[in-house]
Amino acid sequence: MYDYPQVTQSLETYERAGKLIPGWTQLISRRASQFANGVSPIYAQRAKGARFVDIDGNEYIDWVSAVGAIILGHADEVVDQAVKEQIDRGSLYSLNSPLEIELAEELVNTIPSAEMVRYTKGGGEACAVAVRIARGTSGKDKILFCGYHGWHDWYQAANYLENPEDGEFPFAGIEPIGVPQVLANTVIPFAYGDLTMLEDLLKTNRNQIAAIMMEPIRSTLPEPGYLEGVKALAQEHGVILIFDEVSCGWRLSVGGVQKYLNVVPDMTVVAKAMSNGYPMGAVVGSRTVMEPADRMFISSSYWSDNIGLVAALTTIRELKQRNSETRFKEIGQRLSAEINRAIADVGLSGACTGLYTNPGITLDLPDVTLAPKIKTLFIQEMSSRGVLCYTAFKPTLAHTEEDINLTVQAIIDTLTVIQSGLESDGIDNLLACDIKQDPFRRLVQ
Ligand SMILES: Cc1ncc(COP(=O)(O)O)c(C=O)c1O
Repeated sequence: MYDYPQVTQSLETYERAGKLIPGWTQLISRRASQFANGVSPIYAQRAKGARFVDIDGNEYIDWVSAVGAIILGHADEVVDQAVKEQIDRGSLYSLNSPLEIELAEELVNTIPSAEMVRYTKGGGEACAVAVRIARGTSGKDKILFCGYHGWHDWYQAANYLENPEDGEFPFAGIEPIGVPQVLANTVIPFAYGDLTMLEDLLKTNRNQIAAIMMEPIRSTLPEPGYLEGVKALAQEHGVILIFDEVSCGWRLSVGGVQKYLNVVPDMTVVAKAMSNGYPMGAVVGSRTVMEPADRMFISSSYWSDNIGLVAALTTIRELKQRNSETRFKEIGQRLSAEINRAIADVGLSGACTGLYTNPGITLDLPDVTLAPKIKTLFIQEMSSRGVLCYTAFKPTLAHTEEDINLTVQAIIDTLTVIQSGLESDGIDNLLACDIKQDPFRRLVQ
């Protein structure tokens, strides 16, 4: 068997975390159970560009990219220099900072739906603000949604309902523990791609719906006309349309999926990659929808923090300056071609799936119940070859040709291991770790 790198310090630290931090981590996607627990690193000590070093001293090429939040690369020199200079001028003033206006102008010039702007420090928080504004502006309570929108009560209350497709609750894997039951039926999921279902929900809940909140895409583009159809239904029923671009924004187009697909919603939520790893989020939208927020109680001390503002301003300008859209296409297309070649060369059946901004590996398996084991084995073998990824890859502008070449070699070696395991019916013997667990099911794949 392969000689795996030692991750003893990571495993010991995780055990300490289990005694002090309920659920071990702050983000579910950072739990050890999301990777190959036992082989993958769990704690990092430093990161630069597309690489990081774990606390055992092993170096990895990073394709998780802080779950998408890193877009230029870790510790980007231009963003970090701007942040360091801002630290010297003060991170939080007693007064307001003109940076708020400068960033608002940049966002208005960048995102088609943006005429007015509010800030937060994260994506879920920005979704909650967007929902508050939509409810306040419309005077209605219910929200129809399709996607992942964070941890807040307005959204997690959806788990008191059944999933429209299979009768399970929307996020199999999460129970709405601690979410007020009185919120049940205030937030209703709809299936991605199904305009009839959305129309039925709009009709059944006529005059009660404040907004449709959705991820316009996640890993694939919609059928032509789908988002246009959603927008037409929203307009017909007088409902505010909100695109949650926390995960899909910035890489495909700096102006978001709405710019790429030319479908402009009433409001948009952005966060994550907008500030290259510094906490920042924003709700933007049309003047009509946003302006009534001046009478709503939406207020928090750290939303004025200069570090997030300056990091976001610099990151957005650098994305434009560095021709990011072309580079993401190049990286994604190269990975996609190499993944397809590797799958064919080792004699497996499957393909690279997903958009070039997040290409992934999908294998056709003789038995679907093998999928969690194969995913885990993939992560295990990649990790042991110095590459941290899920079964998909989130590029940054810092990924070099060398990073890509090394990753491609690791993919070839990993798929060879998987192929031999499948051929000999010996996948179980190859697993040196726990089986990866999916935290919850997503509505937009
Ligand atoms: C589409 C979408 N919305 C909201 C969120 C929540 O953002 P945060 O984790 O910054 O609260 C996420 C996080 O992954 C997301 O992907």
